[in-house]
Amino acid sequence: MISKIQEEILRLKKEKNICILAHSYQAAEILEVADFTGDSYALSVMASKSDADILIMCGVRFMAETAKILSPDKTVILANSEAGCPMAEQMDTDFISAVKEKNPDYKVVAYINTTAALKTICDVCVTSSSAVEIVKKLPDKNILFIPDCNLGAFVAKQVPEKNIKLLQGGCPTHAKITVNELKKAKERHPEALVLVHPECSPKISEMADYVGSTSGIMKYAQNSDAKEFIIGTEISIAEHLQYSCPDKRFYPMSKDLICSNMKCTTLMDVYYSVCGTGGEEITLDDETIAKARKCIDRMIELGG
Ligand code: 13P
Ligand code: SF4
Repeated sequence: MISKIQEEILRLKKEKNICILAHSYQAAEILEVADFTGDSYALSVMASKSDADILIMCGVRFMAETAKILSPDKTVILANSEAGCPMAEQMDTDFISAVKEKNPDYKVVAYINTTAALKTICDVCVTSSSAVEIVKKLPDKNILFIPDCNLGAFVAKQVPEKNIKLLQGGCPTHAKITVNELKKAKERHPEALVLVHPECSPKISEMADYVGSTSGIMKYAQNSDAKEFIIGTEISIAEHLQYSCPDKRFYPMSKDLICSNMKCTTLMDVYYSVCGTGGEEITLDDETIAKARKCIDRMIELGG
């Protein structure tokens, strides 16, 4: 049954010149019908290069907004309109404008997990795979890093020459992993290397063998000679790695590492989006697109 739906999706997307973009946290049956899969940085770059008429985003809202900002003439569909990133909703333009007023000599670096509206008042975007490189390259010393204080603390450690100010924001899924859970996972799998996402708390990152973005974790595990890994990011990554490296073993650090927003998109949502009867078309006004685009373009320019 699943393969019949997949076949139909593949047929329709060819007929209608549709490009399906899927974040690596999506289910295997969605990744199988996607034209591009990857972390948020890779998806942004792919969205800017695609020559399809319609882009379907299987991920969360800020990713679909980023695709629309980079391809304003294309129809951009978020496959499931309920898929939002709670972190992206934590800070709005009023709040950050007030913080900027109090800190006029700071450049605002926004994690891409922010709304399109918030991006319009920021100086540059970063993703977890490009944050360290981009902050290093910026000529400015004073940086206000929003919204994720855990990723910000990780960047600050890697780039000590900058003065990085943080606010209290972050990913509810990654930030809830506790040191106790990590210790227990290590007790269960003493030979395993610990790979974590920088959205985890600094205490977790300090105990890890490797800290990196979704694609960083996947590449590290695929290229490593080690045979066992504890994966400290969304649970789907351990599953995808297990399929791609059957001779190695992957253990999720915690059974609670589930992003319900990333998980709410189903293959049927993709099917209805391709049919034109489902999903939500993303619309943004011209001014938002023009202003938000500046900080995404700067990210692609500095991070490439
Ligand atoms: P990546 O940039 O690693 O894809 O992370 C996106 C995200 O939302 C992780 O939770
Ligand atoms: Fe947002 Fe966290 Fe889910 Fe990523 S894992 S989409 S940062 S809530």
